[in-house]
Amino acid sequence: MKTMVSPSILSADFGHLAQDVEMINRSEADWIHVDIMDGVFVPNISFGFPVLKSVAKVAQKPLDVHLMIVQPEKFIPEVKALGTHVMNVHYEACTHLHRVVQQIKEAGMQPAVTLNPSTPVSMLKDIIGELYMVLLMSVNPGFGGQKFIEHTLEKVRELRDLIQITGSKALIEVDGGVNHETGARLVAAGADILVAGNAVFSAPDPEQAILDLKNL
Ligand code: DX5
Ligand code: ZN
Repeated sequence: MKTMVSPSILSADFGHLAQDVEMINRSEADWIHVDIMDGVFVPNISFGFPVLKSVAKVAQKPLDVHLMIVQPEKFIPEVKALGTHVMNVHYEACTHLHRVVQQIKEAGMQPAVTLNPSTPVSMLKDIIGELYMVLLMSVNPGFGGQKFIEHTLEKVRELRDLIQITGSKALIEVDGGVNHETGARLVAAGADILVAGNAVFSAPDPEQAILDLKNL
């Protein structure tokens, strides 16, 4: 399978958000990565549903929505209303993760579970069979433009093994500090989808940067 790319609009120019989403539409990107923060689960706030409604109107690629919020299950209807394809909830934010995953499925979205850098892959053993995707954070969530945590490569390999052993079909996505160099190593380790914010939006030619990541 060719590498999939999900550009993160957290690094877009919010004064010209529609233009940046249109750039992603024109590009070879597979999805659009949407980072929602609450200032509680992570020490930052990004954008909320009124802004995202405008994004959803312009977006022509499936939305990959990453909720960095406590009690993400409260917002399943709002996330669904955006036309979301994948809803990512953090393992660390859900006491009853199995229930939340079922609720996401019942709402007609694909469920994904995200792990912070300090959460071991082995915590997914009893839920992996229910998941469409696992999102491994390769930075501590909350900000774009951070440095890639090297240990993530080991986690990708461990997750690949867990998927193989359990017969799960879960995809592996990685988010944080992904660029051409770290992306190549992640793909070699077994990553299916790369999220990239800074590496796309700070590039002189963002469409080309997306294509370069897809060709890894
Ligand atoms: C970080 C977000 C990321 C962020 C990645 O909390 O989850 O999606 O946009 O940004 P880069 O690619 O710049 O590290
Ligand atoms: Zn993200």
